[in-house]
Amino acid sequence: MTETTDRPDGVRLREHIATELARARARTEVLTDAVDDADLVRQHSPLMSPLVWDLAHVGNQEELWLVRDVGGREPVRQDIDELYDAFKQPRRDRPALPLLPPPQARAYVSTVRDKVFDLLDGVTFTDRRLVADGFAFGMIVQHEQQHDETMLATHQLRSGPAVFDAPPPPEPRVRVGGEVLVPAGEFTMGTDTDPWALDNERPAHRVHLPAYVIDAAPVTNGAYAAFIAEGGYRDPRWWSSAGWAHLQEVGLTAPLHWRPDGDGWAYRRFGRWAPVRDDEPVVHVGWYEAQAYATWAGKRLPTEAEWEKAARWDPATGRSRRYPWGDGEPTTSHANLGQQHLWPAPVGAYPAGASPLGVHQLIGDVWEWTSTTFRGHPGFTAFPYREYSEVFFGDDYRVLRGGSFGTDRAACRGTFRNWDYPIRRQIFSGFRCARDVAPEEAPE
Ligand SMILES: [Fe+2]
Repeated sequence: MTETTDRPDGVRLREHIATELARARARTEVLTDAVDDADLVRQHSPLMSPLVWDLAHVGNQEELWLVRDVGGREPVRQDIDELYDAFKQPRRDRPALPLLPPPQARAYVSTVRDKVFDLLDGVTFTDRRLVADGFAFGMIVQHEQQHDETMLATHQLRSGPAVFDAPPPPEPRVRVGGEVLVPAGEFTMGTDTDPWALDNERPAHRVHLPAYVIDAAPVTNGAYAAFIAEGGYRDPRWWSSAGWAHLQEVGLTAPLHWRPDGDGWAYRRFGRWAPVRDDEPVVHVGWYEAQAYATWAGKRLPTEAEWEKAARWDPATGRSRRYPWGDGEPTTSHANLGQQHLWPAPVGAYPAGASPLGVHQLIGDVWEWTSTTFRGHPGFTAFPYREYSEVFFGDDYRVLRGGSFGTDRAACRGTFRNWDYPIRRQIFSGFRCARDVAPEEAPE
């Protein structure tokens, strides 16, 4: 099966691209229309850009790749390329730049979008790699959706009255707990066929893993609160030396956005405090915290390959699926994605999204930290630019997988890779644990 069978011809591909571009833009508008202009230009955290920078940056990338490169059209605003180049402008410096004010930023992104719709009408999806299967359009859709998730994280850091409302995620439908044994053997990691997969998801390659055990669900608030209650943040035994040094330096005591509340904890979600609910996956923890919890629990974080095998490998056929539930696009019964809800769903809420091995909530809810540093798959080649991922390869970043409640389905697959520094927790990050198989558990 190849995913292009869903979109076999140029007409359907064109419609699909137009729908996805419009869907991303509608979300960008929700995120930027929710606050006034003063709020759009403010920096809500030194970790984040002003929302108005994200907005015009989204338009600038769209101009660079679609208007100028794919379309071969004249530049709209070449003079602002430098301002919106994420590599030339560190986040902390962005508020001081002569950025387009909100009305001009909105006008700019809509001018660019009009040109893109115009050129989309006439584009031929040739074999040129940038346009084959509409790749450059898919890359820009994903780029906008990724910035939308970043903007959602900025909203989570913003102080002031709440501006977002959403229904709560679904309640548990099944009981999920314990661990799943994944038998030893090879599986296919990465992809050659997913048309909009980004360079770091490629190529597909075979990986052999010894048998291992992985949690059937992400670590919950209840379990994480037990770690805190038992002195987890006061005992260096559970922490790496770098993690312990970081804890002491910044005074970590609990996940970001938590505060003590009676005997328990409260969690501030988009301007509203709510009691921490025990059966929801913990979110806003850094890699160091995840690693410390796992050690305390007598386990470890999964490697990236272990995460992906648990998510994609189908023991009945031996092949790797696009998603845990199969190859079909996510629906609201599979996963908590796309900002439909403003926090993770309780464990057991998505039985239809489980993998063949019975591992739940791998997609959506929370990005899951893995133990793996960010590198290219064997045979990796940067495309279409080194700055998407290759410049981040090395020991500084840890890989996160699976997407969060704030990740759109266009930017989330069983192969999709995210990465961040071990100290970062303003992202919608959680984790699940894994462990080696004890000799007496080894399958026949
Ligand atoms: Fe970007």
